[in-house]
Amino acid sequence: MFRRVLLSASRSDRLKQALVQTPVSGGVVRRFVAGETASDAVSVSRDLISDGRLVTIDHLGEDTIDLTQAEATRDAYVKLLRLLSEARLTAGAEVSVKLSAIGQSLPGDGEKIALEHARQICSAAASAGTTVTVDMEDHTTTDATLAAVAELRRDFPSTGAVLQAYLFRTQADCRDLAHAGSRVRLCKGAYKEPESVAYTDGPDVDRAYVRCLKILMAGQGYPMVASHDPRLIEIAGALAVRHDRAKGSYEYQMLYGVRPAEQQRLASQGEKMRVYLPYGDQWYEYLVRRMAEKPANLALFVRSLTSKS
Ligand code: FDA
Repeated sequence: MFRRVLLSASRSDRLKQALVQTPVSGGVVRRFVAGETASDAVSVSRDLISDGRLVTIDHLGEDTIDLTQAEATRDAYVKLLRLLSEARLTAGAEVSVKLSAIGQSLPGDGEKIALEHARQICSAAASAGTTVTVDMEDHTTTDATLAAVAELRRDFPSTGAVLQAYLFRTQADCRDLAHAGSRVRLCKGAYKEPESVAYTDGPDVDRAYVRCLKILMAGQGYPMVASHDPRLIEIAGALAVRHDRAKGSYEYQMLYGVRPAEQQRLASQGEKMRVYLPYGDQWYEYLVRRMAEKPANLALFVRSLTSKS
């Protein structure tokens, strides 16, 4: 119920107006978002990398229905990759891209336009010495997104795919993608999906996540365990041991600002720990979703709005 209220708040223009007037430098916004500019993203990446973590940077914004905006998002990624390269951070930093932000939902040729933009971002990433992971969105886009990843991997084999454990189809997708060289991020899934395509109960999603993780850990690919869930993190560690996987042949991933102490603990044990780091002026919807996931984050946010510092 609370989650539903917050998710509808993410679509409230009045609430958005009120919050947008809060400078992004405000404490809690800064806890979850690097800032509004590429320089902010580079600066926070530098801090995280010097602390032993890795990053994947997301330029905030999705569902672009305007070609100019899709091109601007592509340009933002290309500029970010250049700045990361100049700052010599690309050994520890990659980028995450939503196809809907670079044109997938444009009428007519949207899929083709998004693929071309993604190719340009992958090319900029390769020149900078890093790579791209293609985020997964709602289930109506899964086939198209996996097809785009397959296409991108012809020229850029390290392009990462994302699979969502809550979808019934995902075990089969894990089997398809668990081959040598294949980077696969496994997450629970963040969209409101119908019961016809996805598990909707928490425990069912968790069990599906474990089944998928078993396939990825047993396979030849590079699993990226994207979860804050302590039980799943423990199970991932146990599966890595069972399959004789050396540290570094898989990685953990968490969102910036979520369980930072756990991120540091895993990194200090020699695990690869990558932080998903969003930046950009479209931070509002992203932030409200984080509030919906964890009400304690909302209390922190409200405190920061009323604090004078
Ligand atoms: P869940 O939210 O169920 O939390 C499980 C447990 O984790 C909690 O009970 C608590 O113990 C702990 N926990 C969670 N949040 C916490 C907090 N703020 N503080 C303290 N403890 C906390 N989704 C998608 O559909 N497409 C995508 O491309 C991506 N990409 C992506 C990348 C990365 C790096 C991450 C981490 C996540 C995504 N996601 C995503 C989002 C994902 O699908 C999911 O919605 C969130 O990660 C929340 O799921 P958890 O696995 O963390 O478990």
